Amino acid sequence: VFFLRERLKGFAKGSSFVPKHVHVIGAGVMGGDIAAWCALMGLNVTVQDQNLNAIAATLQRAAQLFKKRLKLPFLVQAASDRLVPDTDGLGVIKADVIIEAIIENVEAKQKIFAMLEEKAKPDAVLATNTSTIPLEVISKNLNNPGRVVGIHFFNPVALMQLVEVVADPHTDPKVVAQATTFVGKIDKLPLPVKSSPGFLVNRVLMPYLLESAEIYFEGVPGPVIDKAATDFGMLMGPIELMDTVGLDICVAAAQSMGAPISEQVVAMVHAGKLGKKSGAGFYTYPHGKVVKPKVDPSKKYPEDISDRIIMRLVNESAACLREGIVTD
Ligand code: NAI
Repeated sequence: VFFLRERLKGFAKGSSFVPKHVHVIGAGVMGGDIAAWCALMGLNVTVQDQNLNAIAATLQRAAQLFKKRLKLPFLVQAASDRLVPDTDGLGVIKADVIIEAIIENVEAKQKIFAMLEEKAKPDAVLATNTSTIPLEVISKNLNNPGRVVGIHFFNPVALMQLVEVVADPHTDPKVVAQATTFVGKIDKLPLPVKSSPGFLVNRVLMPYLLESAEIYFEGVPGPVIDKAATDFGMLMGPIELMDTVGLDICVAAAQSMGAPISEQVVAMVHAGKLGKKSGAGFYTYPHGKVVKPKVDPSKKYPEDISDRIIMRLVNESAACLREGIVTD
């Protein structure tokens, strides 16, 4: 793991790019936390949203992050000063890196990038945090589609170290190298990937989750499946993970990747059982905390659960390698 981390850090050394100012468009769950993280890491940040409440919530979450990480009041103050609300998007013309993290809507994103191509500095990195829309669709109407790169963070931003740097065949290699260096500069681990549904992480995660759902509907209790995964070394079991991510998001992600998802999961979504956020999914969440059913210890369950779920993940990884999503 140490060598793999060093390898990822090495990707960031591909350019001499020195980003100083980041502009984030969309201050939601992701954009807000990306902006806060960049300010924590010493960059000047402007954060834009059409919704003032989203910006206010971002500043609140950022203040908590700065306090927790920096502790000393003058450092907290300095980080807060680096994070500037920017409802009019004035930061666009000055930023070295612009990260779009608005809602997952093609037309809205295309509009933002048309504006960015016109207004941003000619050498600014123009990035999208999209999880599902292909880069070539977002950049389709631009004069220079090669300028757009994916910088795909994971939720929660402050805890997840891996960031996928997404390129399609049009993407300018210089832009990819700059984006990768930027990711290293904010102390994350960049992984270059090819633009393809699910990129690497969500692509290999999906069959693992779907297999877990199959096992669940075969009659194995959730806690037994989760334990097989945590015994293997996962931080959280797949059943609880699906509830945490949201079953609606899981279904949408599976469908966008063309992965076959169990009808029973789709039915749960239709019934409003979305997981933690709706109070019930595979488990229940009476006070926001998971309640798992008790498992009868005298009952025998199949012993191949971790094999079934982990092998799906390994198998998909091999497919990603074959398809050149990652180089090795
Ligand atoms: P969200 O719904 O929490 O936030 C979107 C924000 O964009 C909202 O505050 C909204 O007011 C703002 N917005 C919408 N149109 C805008 C415009 N034209 N100009 C300025 N602001 C605008 O969404 P979330 O979950 O943060 O997702 C954002 C992006 O990040 C999506 O592309 C999603 O695919 C991607 N993503 C989401 C992850 C997640 O776990 N939620 C993980 C990785 C990527």
